[in-house]
Amino acid sequence: MAGNWKMHKTPAEAGNFARLLRQRVAPGRGVEVIICPPFPALAAVATKLAGSEIGWGAQNMHWEPEGAYTGEVSGPMLQAMGCRYVILGHSERRSYFRETDEEIRKKVGAALACGLRPIFCLGENLATRRSGKAVDFCRRQFKDVLEGMEISVPDALVVAYEPVWAIGTGKTATPADATEVIGALREEAARLFGREFSARLRFLYGGSVKPDSMPAFLEEEEIDGVLVGGASLDIEQFTAIIDITA
Ligand code: G3H
Repeated sequence: MAGNWKMHKTPAEAGNFARLLRQRVAPGRGVEVIICPPFPALAAVATKLAGSEIGWGAQNMHWEPEGAYTGEVSGPMLQAMGCRYVILGHSERRSYFRETDEEIRKKVGAALACGLRPIFCLGENLATRRSGKAVDFCRRQFKDVLEGMEISVPDALVVAYEPVWAIGTGKTATPADATEVIGALREEAARLFGREFSARLRFLYGGSVKPDSMPAFLEEEEIDGVLVGGASLDIEQFTAIIDITA
């Protein structure tokens, strides 16, 4: 269960949320919970979650380890502060900041190389969904970013299927549609990395997940968890989503 806070919460607000989350999520529940705050709040969250089972991650990084890239943050910098996860390829990065599959590929490779776990996002827009080409489109995004990548173990990576038209809109994909795409991605993963790897690779669904829409997704065998945006900003909603899985 991963929460993407996008550009929300100050360090104080984030630290307070992390403290509450730690109180509410009992250890040993067998559910991996991760929150991804904005960069300035990472340190506050890290402090509050130190020694707990709750993970935290960033929402972006550059592919170079250092250099003259004003405004950017590198993988080794995140890794050095104890960060374990980084969201890469989110559709908001692709659309507002023109990130390409080629750049996302470099970022995923750089994250893996420095021991960060990418939460690699992909998904089709509405026009592609309506044209009936969503599965092929997502399969191509998956292949273009991951083909030939050195990935030591399936746990090193998480893949999030997020249809663009479902993000922040209140509309979700049907669990059957999400399963169709994720099933095709698992097939692609089997082709690229082998069947055993593919069976263990974790796939999340993201796009307007709320406590009431969540259970239907988790009933699908292909879906291992969810990437939650808006509902992860609210402690009641996010813990309700976590509680459903526990
Ligand atoms: O990364 C999270 C997704 O963009 C989903 O956001 O739950 O607000 O639709 P949302």
